[in-house]
Amino acid sequence: MSFDAPTVIRVKRDGGVLSDEAIDWVIDAYTHGRIADAQMSALLMAIFLRGMTTGEIARWTAAMIDSGERLDFTDLRRDGRPLALVDKHSTGGVGDKITIPLVPIVMACGGAVPQAAGRGLGHTGGTLDKLESIPGFTAELTKAQIRQQLCDLGAAIFAAGELAPADRKIYALRDVTATTESLPLIASSVMSKKIAEGTRALVLDSKVGSGAFLDTEAESRELARTMVELGEEHGVRTRALLTDMHAPLGRTVGNAIEVVESLEVLEGGGPGDVVELTLALAREMCDVAGLDGVDPAQTLRDGTAMDRFRDLVAAQGGDVDSLLAERLPIGTHIETVRAPRGGTMGDIDAMAVGLAVWRLGAGRTMPGEQVQAGAGIRIHRKPGEPVAAGEPLFTLYTDTPQRLPAAAAELDGAWSVGDEPPPTRPLIIDRISM
Ligand code: URA
Repeated sequence: MSFDAPTVIRVKRDGGVLSDEAIDWVIDAYTHGRIADAQMSALLMAIFLRGMTTGEIARWTAAMIDSGERLDFTDLRRDGRPLALVDKHSTGGVGDKITIPLVPIVMACGGAVPQAAGRGLGHTGGTLDKLESIPGFTAELTKAQIRQQLCDLGAAIFAAGELAPADRKIYALRDVTATTESLPLIASSVMSKKIAEGTRALVLDSKVGSGAFLDTEAESRELARTMVELGEEHGVRTRALLTDMHAPLGRTVGNAIEVVESLEVLEGGGPGDVVELTLALAREMCDVAGLDGVDPAQTLRDGTAMDRFRDLVAAQGGDVDSLLAERLPIGTHIETVRAPRGGTMGDIDAMAVGLAVWRLGAGRTMPGEQVQAGAGIRIHRKPGEPVAAGEPLFTLYTDTPQRLPAAAAELDGAWSVGDEPPPTRPLIIDRISM
């Protein structure tokens, strides 16, 4: 059967269901440059507006997996035993630096984490953009390096590269065509990478709230269920936590600034919400990987998680001395938002903070654009904390001063100081498995 892009786009534009053959053709043709970005953008917008059936999502995901190779680490051994391969992925949030402390905790508990990580998408940050703010750190690992690190250290954090290359191209296009916030596109993007990367078990963090791509709890729950099913269908033991993303996680949002906060967690401190979510995900990962009798919290107390992080950064070319001395880039131009009155910090809108940080230069407006390592926002007062009149509430950092007014404008109306604390919400809302 022969296909052409305008006909496929028209089917979805008019609310039809794409056939398996049409999906296979589109993904293959786009991966190999036989469909133009403009045509794929139109199809993505049609999917965004019309959605996809469960069958279409499953086929789209399978086609994205088949667009590249699927790694297999089941032959690897440590101390004569197969590796406990397990990974985590978040659907994207603001201040979501959890992967950075989480991976070394799971390493210290005896897991092996083959983490194909992403770059920033829309208003959300990406683990690779954050880690690349460590001088020398590279995520461009060869397959041989990934295998070696998994055996010797218990983790590798790498750019997906040739894994699901269709996702790499579609992800970059979605980022600049306002087509990120789509359940079928998020589910297939996350799961194609995670299935192709060779993990045997997976824990997903499906975000709920203004800073998430899908903001209702029902949609986030549906996304989590869809992803868990996709994982299990492809032989990956998968479960998900539904977690709150109304306010940014922690007190920092950006690139280097989030790495520094992650170090605080690894040193046994750090913001309570970051520690709580990191440990909840670590416990799920250890459980789904069959690592019995381990205590993730102990690895923070006894410093073993920090040791593993140092090993991982050094193995991937990062300058550990700069990292530990916190000599990471910080934007040279600063603006401070101060409290107009005393009282209690109200809710902080995660989406607005994410957009402000993106405007400061931490994210992209064009595919492949260089991001600023030093761009970010420090949040001095979290919701519910007491505020004194005139004290700093937010500090904005960038290397390009002309970005400051637009970033500050994003924060307008995104927070308040009042007399009463805002309602509290649980951070971990639910757990979803099959
Ligand atoms: N993470 C991904 O890998 N893809 C998305 O679409 C959203 C979050």
